Amino acid sequence: MEQRALWGSKIGFLLAAVGSAVGLGNIWRFGYMAYENGGGAFLVPYSVALVLAGIPLMVLEYALGHMEKGSAPLAFTRVSSKWESVGWWMPTIAFFGINLFYAVVIGWCMNYFVFAFTQAWGADTGAFFMHQFLQISDDVFHFGGIRWPILAGTLFTWLVCWAICYREVSHGIEKASMIFMPLLVVLTLVLVGWSLQLPGAWEAVRANYLTPHWDKINPFTAGGGKVWVAAFGQIFFTLSLGFGIMITYASYLPKKTDIVTNALITSILNCLYSFVTGFAVFGTIGFMAAQKGVPFAEAIKSGPGLAFVVYPEAINQLPAGKTVFGLLFFLVLIMAGLSSAISLVEAFCCALMDKFDLPRGKTVTAVCVLGALGSVIFTTRAGLYILDIVDHFVNNYGLVSGGIIECVLVGWVLKAAVARRHVNNVATLSLPAFWEVLIRYITPTLLVVVLGFALVNEFATRYSGYSVSALLLFGIGWLVLALVISLVLTRYTWAAGKLKRKHDPDDDQLLV
Ligand code: ALA
Repeated sequence: MEQRALWGSKIGFLLAAVGSAVGLGNIWRFGYMAYENGGGAFLVPYSVALVLAGIPLMVLEYALGHMEKGSAPLAFTRVSSKWESVGWWMPTIAFFGINLFYAVVIGWCMNYFVFAFTQAWGADTGAFFMHQFLQISDDVFHFGGIRWPILAGTLFTWLVCWAICYREVSHGIEKASMIFMPLLVVLTLVLVGWSLQLPGAWEAVRANYLTPHWDKINPFTAGGGKVWVAAFGQIFFTLSLGFGIMITYASYLPKKTDIVTNALITSILNCLYSFVTGFAVFGTIGFMAAQKGVPFAEAIKSGPGLAFVVYPEAINQLPAGKTVFGLLFFLVLIMAGLSSAISLVEAFCCALMDKFDLPRGKTVTAVCVLGALGSVIFTTRAGLYILDIVDHFVNNYGLVSGGIIECVLVGWVLKAAVARRHVNNVATLSLPAFWEVLIRYITPTLLVVVLGFALVNEFATRYSGYSVSALLLFGIGWLVLALVISLVLTRYTWAAGKLKRKHDPDDDQLLV
């Protein structure tokens, strides 16, 4: 009898789950999201989103994957066959909507890691990033050819993902996470400590990161709604929720697993990591501002260029250790990114393997080749624009809608009480009845309101001033593409016996 793969150890699973959550989103994306959305004030909607959506949905995804022992499409279909297509939506949007550009951003980091040896970015880091490195075109539709160094970094990223995911989870992802995560924590702490002792760093952290500017987060004043939408989007992105990843990872857990504790540890460690790296981001920028004698607001650049423009500029100002600091920063980004990229690949591959009973090796090879080809568009000279639009739409609509869907599925179709009973079968920390209220009413309502705000903002201002045709093609178009792929995949029939639930002897194992 075919058996589902299992994690080798409890810590291996946790490190893999935290590895998926902790990624570019915690450093690259969290930094510019926090800055664009009120600095320290952003931490308030961020924490609200964590408590009211992040943690309840992490429990939900773990519970669903664990109970139904399947990737998102299999788990959804086992709850109700009518829900298969929405089960495909999550890994599909995560793969096509995130993984393709995510690999490219890791490719940027790999290039910057090499640049760090000589600070090849020179004195004007903004001009270097935009004009020399990206060779940015003047319009979204002017692709202007491929940037070969970026393509090389991107292909290397896909190669690493392939090499790790090719092996069974306990040998591939688990082993890689056991190496990446402890190293990442140590390197990050060195980076944070180093950043904070720089002159001007601590003052900048206090004034810009830790002091909440309440006016910025009032959802009923201009721009306030936008901050809340960004915070919920960020929570989904950073916790890898709505991607189908956590459902997949939990499906590799044996029966006797404490879901609540694992969900809490994953969510809290991830957000703590973001919070702590925020000190490095704001501290380093504060140091640079002090060196140049300019206000903080002038020193910081918003948008996806933050890590690639402001950090190198700050490194230029260091009195000593420029090379080591630069290597350290980009190595941290690469490792955090890779441990998340492999989870994105795994969620989509596992869904295909579950449905079509395909061998892992061939599936992973085909998916990584497809991914590498799909990434090419983001390596063109218009890549940054396209990435920015896709990221905006996928996060604010794709992932949040996935969250609403899973609340309805587990809360109402499966029934939240059934999921809670399952979780509480093996729990040191039992799940309170209030979780059912959250999943059935509070979380989905909040997510609908967030979607509403996002839509209102969309119509009020064109995102980042892009043309309507660009937003339609790369924003809405990307969502439609994922939807079509999900519907096509749903039309195929399941491989024989795949929908039957089998008792797995390994299931009774206790992970230590
Ligand atoms: N959770 C991953 C990140 O934050 C995708 O980068």
